[in-house]
Amino acid sequence: MFIRSALRSGLRRNATRGMATQARSTLKVALLPADGIGREVIPAARAALEALGSDLPRLEFVDLLAGFELFTRAGTALPEATIEALREQDCALFGAVSSPSKSVFGYSSPIVALRKELDLYANIRPVLSVSKDPSQKPDVDLVVVRENTECLYVKQEVSEIGEHGRVAKATRLITERASTRIGKMACEIALQRPRKRVTIIHKSNVLSVTDGLFRETVRRVPSLPGVNGKYDSIQIGEQIVDSAVYRLFREPHIFDVMVAPNLYGDILSDAAAALVGSLGLVPSVNAGDTFVMGEPVHGSAPDIAGKSIANPLASIRSAALMLRHLGYGKQAERIENAVDDVIRDGTVLTPDLGGKSKTEEVTAEVLKRV
Ligand code: NAI
Ligand code: MG
Repeated sequence: MFIRSALRSGLRRNATRGMATQARSTLKVALLPADGIGREVIPAARAALEALGSDLPRLEFVDLLAGFELFTRAGTALPEATIEALREQDCALFGAVSSPSKSVFGYSSPIVALRKELDLYANIRPVLSVSKDPSQKPDVDLVVVRENTECLYVKQEVSEIGEHGRVAKATRLITERASTRIGKMACEIALQRPRKRVTIIHKSNVLSVTDGLFRETVRRVPSLPGVNGKYDSIQIGEQIVDSAVYRLFREPHIFDVMVAPNLYGDILSDAAAALVGSLGLVPSVNAGDTFVMGEPVHGSAPDIAGKSIANPLASIRSAALMLRHLGYGKQAERIENAVDDVIRDGTVLTPDLGGKSKTEEVTAEVLKRV
């Protein structure tokens, strides 16, 4: 499979499984803005795709419903029609959902469900800083490869009354199958980056059964039957999750590809986003073997929703990452270069990056440069 996370890594896509560039006459893209700022930033991602003009096959967009607001209106957060329509598309762009912190009867996060439903087993989150001088190496240039289907996200929680009051329990699932395929994905990504380093993030000093299985399984990937030495150039290391966060803040340059179970991957990527200036800059793709869905790392940001100040760059970069995954590397690069230019230029930025510009103004600035 692909992937290229950063221009300066010189990473180039190499489609090896199912999603190589096909001679398409159309590219069918589902748009699921969902909640909050998702509705403000997904139009920006769409516009960036459209700005590529004849460099892409004819684009066909379909708007699909999902989210908490939909749930409060229609009683479902992920209609069957949305899932069915998604199966007819080449790819999708997802905004963000607002999942309440308190349990709401009948509600379950549609993004977690979609990742499982479409078997999008990897959430690939490149985190890249943009240096003022384009010839300079970025300080942060890493990719968090997050397992996307299991860990605590299987959401098997129970509440009981124990001897001393209420007791809540959750099941954490780690399987050899999921750990193997995420390990392979991490190796494929590392293979295309100059440093070729994979760091396994775990807590197997405490969780020796679950994290122990994750660690061992990923470590074993290079020697699996059929791999035939393909990953021999990759250096596989490991770091316990808490010290990984510490080191991420002190010496982010030591990390290249970080592969982690679901929850650690989620937390690590928000932490890494702080290092590059804003959550509003960090893109991702949810990838499986047959489908890809771009999604900014950030959530629905209710504190700024409706104010037209959401940073659209994470979503625009997610559209580029999605293209790269589909085999349109050159086209992705046009978008990525335009985004980097806007950041480097620094005059048209949203408030999260210290600017005064609106979402639409930043989007327009990117479109001018695509
Ligand atoms: P959040 O990512 O929505 O926001 C965290 C902080 O970053 C906020 O101060 C917000 O204003 C800022 N921020 C996020 N994206 C930004 C952007 N594009 N431009 C400028 N500033 C931005 O996380 P939070 O506040 O913890 O969660 C809000 C809601 O989003 C919750 O309901 C949560 O469940 C949901 N969420 C959904 C995700 C998804 O759909 N994949 C991921 C994370 C959270
Ligand atoms: Mg998160």
